[in-house]
Amino acid sequence: MIREEKKYRWIKIVGNIHELIFEENNIAETEIDGKKICIVKTADGIKACSTKCPHAGGDMAKGKLDKKGNIICPVHGYIFNTDNGRDINGEGYFLKMYPVKISEEGVFVGIEHANS
Ligand code: FES
Repeated sequence: MIREEKKYRWIKIVGNIHELIFEENNIAETEIDGKKICIVKTADGIKACSTKCPHAGGDMAKGKLDKKGNIICPVHGYIFNTDNGRDINGEGYFLKMYPVKISEEGVFVGIEHANS
């Protein structure tokens, strides 16, 4: 667990969860180190993923969530599990996911250190 913690740089994206502005699709977009990231509100909690679909680069921020909290790409409709990023049809695509921590200090997204 401690090793996992060291793997990430935790970037504060907002001071309070209510500061995140979610679109109707329950997806908000933010930027960390010039990288666009989707913040996704599911029944299971807040998740973070790349805005770029691993299939052909579709903009996941314009996607939709299904009832299970999976995110659906708006371009060809591939569906990704927001727990592990895996495409649920098993074609081997993985959407880049980022760990999220919410504390009294704010909402943080973990970015892997370049050398990890
Ligand atoms: S670009 Fe996302 S499913 Fe094809």
